[in-house]
Amino acid sequence: MCGIVGYVGSRNGTSLLVDGLKRLEYRGYDSAGVSLMDGGGIETRKAKGKIAMLEAAIGSMPIQGNVGIAHTRWATHGPPNECNAHPHHDCSGTVSVVHNGIIENYGPLRAMLKKTGHTFVSDTDTEVLAHLIEAAFDDNLEEAVVDALALVEGTYGIAVICSRDPDKIVAARKGSPLLIGLGEGENYIASDVAAILQHTRHVVYLDDGEMAVVTRTGYRVMDLNAQTIKKRVNRIDWDLDKIEKGGYEHFMLKEIFEQPQTIQNTMRGRSVDEDGFSKLGGLNLSREELQHFDHIIITACGTSWHSALIGKMMIEEHARIRCEVEYASEFRYRNPIVSEKTLCIVISQSGETADTLAAMREAKRRGAKTLGLVNQVGSTIAREDDGGIYLHAGPEIGVASTKAFTSQVVALALLTLKLGRLRTMSVVQGRVVTQALEKLPEQIQNILDRAGEIEKIAAAFTDATNFLYLGRGFNFPVALEGALKLKEISYIHAEGYPAAEMKHGPIALIDADMPVVFIAPHDSVFDKVVSNVQEVKARGGRVIAITSRDEPSLDGKIDYEFRIPETIDMLNPVLSAIPLQLLAYYIAAKRGLNVDQPRNLAKSVTVE
Ligand code: M6R
Repeated sequence: MCGIVGYVGSRNGTSLLVDGLKRLEYRGYDSAGVSLMDGGGIETRKAKGKIAMLEAAIGSMPIQGNVGIAHTRWATHGPPNECNAHPHHDCSGTVSVVHNGIIENYGPLRAMLKKTGHTFVSDTDTEVLAHLIEAAFDDNLEEAVVDALALVEGTYGIAVICSRDPDKIVAARKGSPLLIGLGEGENYIASDVAAILQHTRHVVYLDDGEMAVVTRTGYRVMDLNAQTIKKRVNRIDWDLDKIEKGGYEHFMLKEIFEQPQTIQNTMRGRSVDEDGFSKLGGLNLSREELQHFDHIIITACGTSWHSALIGKMMIEEHARIRCEVEYASEFRYRNPIVSEKTLCIVISQSGETADTLAAMREAKRRGAKTLGLVNQVGSTIAREDDGGIYLHAGPEIGVASTKAFTSQVVALALLTLKLGRLRTMSVVQGRVVTQALEKLPEQIQNILDRAGEIEKIAAAFTDATNFLYLGRGFNFPVALEGALKLKEISYIHAEGYPAAEMKHGPIALIDADMPVVFIAPHDSVFDKVVSNVQEVKARGGRVIAITSRDEPSLDGKIDYEFRIPETIDMLNPVLSAIPLQLLAYYIAAKRGLNVDQPRNLAKSVTVE
């Protein structure tokens, strides 16, 4: 989603800001812009489309300056065009604002400002901020920003510069991530650490309701009543190569191939084989508290919601705790039953998804303890949950989530072990799980070594217009995930269903043009899935099967087959998801599509 970078120092900020924007490209955007304090006034360049277009605009009319802000926009109010791109200005051109989030009352504010003589040039909600700051400005930018924000309803992460108070950036946060990067004689603002990691590893995360005044020599964080807040400086410990392609054609492919390592990282030091137990230091819950819960709600969006469905099955089967899965966007506006015996597990790769964050806050408000399964270290969910399990999968840049999904499933398995062993799960049963977990990295490598087989299958389906994904038990959520991967990056319509549910409607779609992917490893429901394969084949459908051994019962019923290694039922999704990630990837790449930044999508959805 939208991205923010800001710089205040003594270097020319132009290329520094544009490079920062490039690091945020993965988040998804449709236009970009930059403003710099240029010899007393503010100069701005903007462009629709990719950052290369912005570079061209700067190339034909260069700007420079050592205080500046820049933005990648993902359109919400008004179409993606140069005028609606950020930064936005006031009437006199002395204030420049970039904004992530949504100003909900921008309509009445705009009408009020127009009545007092302000002229608007864009369709955006953001432009009201520039005019409000202009109207409130006396001689100090931070005071004007405080006064302006007092009138605003909605969410924001903003960075503001002003030529009448020129040596600073003022930033403020409510619901949209923002951090300060600390350098030597220079400082930064960013919505995502990737934008500034090239320059500094030391960052201060802003929390909701906080604002910062950032100058060359320092920073001050305060609340909206101007009370200073002491903040912790965090050190980022991952390297820039983690956000580079490392020889792969796309980030998505790189991230798929990283999975033997990322799974290892999720498990490191946490799976204790001799006791069939897991050690999860970050839960912040005592043994008694863990035994006290009799109800679990798992809430998430998208791919993370699919892993939540797998988590529910694991927890109910092995820990025997009643468990519900809720879309975060629905949970936050329902009247859910939550008690002090409820544990709310929140799953999010980015840790910034607006709906998931709001659902977690709602669960907390209703008295539940919250646990975050989050990948992005230092993200808002990770900072606001009561405890959690970091996925340690490393930065995920491809918009389509891959390695985060498999790490989520492994983290849920570790949590299931913890909860189960405190209840009915025996040491022997626990060891079956820990031993199966330990084998996963090698088994994933085995699948990846045969990626060429999937590429060949993909070649037969690049012109498909529809796909059906079917699975049962633990592999039903994998069917949903396989379909989501395909539709996100290849724009082919795809649906996931529980295999037996097909008879209740989707079977009407099956003909020789309908590819059907069956996720059919040899598990407790395999024989049932065979009957469903038979039903598809009888209607002429083309069957691609993900199996795990030679199955005579499938002879003559499948057109394409890919074998995955065998594991226990609850861990099958970790292995069966990978060929589906590859299938989606190869189909999209063969169609010549922008795999890492599919149209209309954003990596981190920070608006409702
Ligand atoms: O960062 P989160 O895990 O909270 O994101 C949730 C969804 O937006 C995300 O999984 C989305 O569905 C991905 N594009 C799936 O590939």
